[in-house]
Amino acid sequence: SRKSDLKGVKILVTAGPTREYLDPVRFISNPSSGKMGYAIAAACAERGAEVELVSGPVSIAPPPGVKLYRVETAQEMFEKVMEIFLSCHMVFKAAAVGDYRPETYCPTKIKKDSDKLILTLVKNPDILKELGKRKGKCILVGFAAETENIEEYATKKMREKNLDFIVANDVTRQGAGFEKNTNEGLLITREGEVIAIPQMDKKEFAHRIIDEIIKRCPALCQG
Ligand code: PMT
Repeated sequence: SRKSDLKGVKILVTAGPTREYLDPVRFISNPSSGKMGYAIAAACAERGAEVELVSGPVSIAPPPGVKLYRVETAQEMFEKVMEIFLSCHMVFKAAAVGDYRPETYCPTKIKKDSDKLILTLVKNPDILKELGKRKGKCILVGFAAETENIEEYATKKMREKNLDFIVANDVTRQGAGFEKNTNEGLLITREGEVIAIPQMDKKEFAHRIIDEIIKRCPALCQG
């Protein structure tokens, strides 16, 4: 049964968006609500895992029994994840991390004096790619939010980042992706197996992903 099949397993989950600040009152972000990542954290905790949740700013409550670390920027998420992951057996990277941040941060509120404001963005560290380099025996599960060529692009990300699994979401679908209470998508394995998961509540979707991963990683559940 699902109950306590992850006992003794330590899992890191990231969730939510990041904020990339221009000045103290303005930032670049995305619509991630944290629902998917929080559902994974809740499902893992229900199954007996020890769960560390690194979350960007969201308005939902953390699931019971989960250790929550709040971060805002991609850089902060990077540092927290690198600190925690070494002691974890598995990582779920459901956060929607900002790929770029403003090159300069203005410590005072930018005045609207000019008609045009040109922003230069620089690339943020890719947290998951760095985990892929350092992962050792840790099982890495990435997420991919795509709008076209879902399977192809997600598979490419899985290979480039040295992941064990990737969950591919078509965020243009009605019942999937950002802010929705449901999700649907493909779970793709390192071996190239593609498992289609139909639309369901995000918590049930989380349990389904975990079921499929556990089937393929029996050593995980032996402590
Ligand atoms: O939070 P919700 O409202 O419930 O929405 C859920 C979701 C749509 C955000 C979630 O299901 C999802 O798809 N998350 C991943 C979104 C994303 O950033 O996808 P990506 O294709 O840009 O990135 C691929 C992977 O690399 C992700 O696991 C991401 O966490 C990771 N990444 C990306 C950039 C970066 N600098 N560091 C990273 O670790």
